[in-house]
Amino acid sequence: MKNFISIKDLTKEDMLKVLDTADRLLKEPNPHLLEGKIVASLFFEPSTRTRLSFTSAAYRTGAKVLGFESPDATSLKKGETLRDTIKMVEAYSDVIVMRHKIEGAARFAAAVSKHPIINAGDGANEHPSQTLLDLFTIRQQIGRLENIKIAFVGDLKYGRTVHSLARALILFSPEFYFVAPDSIQIPDYILKELDNLNIKYHICSEYDSILSEIDVLYMTRIQKERFDDVEEYNKVSGIYKIKREDIEGKCKDHMIILHPLPRVDEIDIDVDESKHALYFKQAANGVPVREAMYAIALATSQIDGNKENL
Ligand code: CP
Repeated sequence: MKNFISIKDLTKEDMLKVLDTADRLLKEPNPHLLEGKIVASLFFEPSTRTRLSFTSAAYRTGAKVLGFESPDATSLKKGETLRDTIKMVEAYSDVIVMRHKIEGAARFAAAVSKHPIINAGDGANEHPSQTLLDLFTIRQQIGRLENIKIAFVGDLKYGRTVHSLARALILFSPEFYFVAPDSIQIPDYILKELDNLNIKYHICSEYDSILSEIDVLYMTRIQKERFDDVEEYNKVSGIYKIKREDIEGKCKDHMIILHPLPRVDEIDIDVDESKHALYFKQAANGVPVREAMYAIALATSQIDGNKENL
């Protein structure tokens, strides 16, 4: 676990180690854990939650942060390559958090860098830190990860959070409901992975009829920026809009609604007052989970002096 590139690189034990470490750091904050360390925060794509919670996690554990929130003010504008950018940044930092629009960019950076790379999202591919905080929230609220029935709703084609979370839950005997229009349904390569492992799943176009079955309703935004053709986006834009009256009394008492955020119009703000709405708590959980990721990435690469704190 030097790098966090794809959720597929992690074993069940690796994931549980992150969640247990996050649990411990939430209960017993350690503002000295990463003292003297520098985090490089490289965001080639926009972000609110991921960038700020990685930054907050660094400050809360005693690390310092440098980096950029957009490539516009960097030498990439002069034609510098990603490879050279990473070689420079590794000289200035101890761990690199990177979001990039190209699928595989984080894997490439890890091959170039001698320091740990944490993938903060690579195109439509993966978002492992989001998955770990999703798992953390599910376990915190439902009390287990095993045998969860979860419905993913919305943009399942481009939704990297869905791809990563589905791949993680495979290790915990889940049952999946994929709710989306055909044009943005879950990719076939994910379904093949589920078929090979005999994971039970359902392809659906609406969620009303399954609300009483599920433990988790995982809503997602339809990602306009990933569509090549705006007409295709217009056909599916606004297709799912959940309101409070759609869920109250129609789902299990413990059912939780998650969303990686940002939302557009798929969850009415009325739902925020429902006991089922967990998406803001989910976003807040990003801080202890990302503290744990730093601690583990750095402990396995270089800061042996802090290992006893994990
Ligand atoms: N969930 C998430 O990745 O949000 P941001 O794009 O704001 O980082």
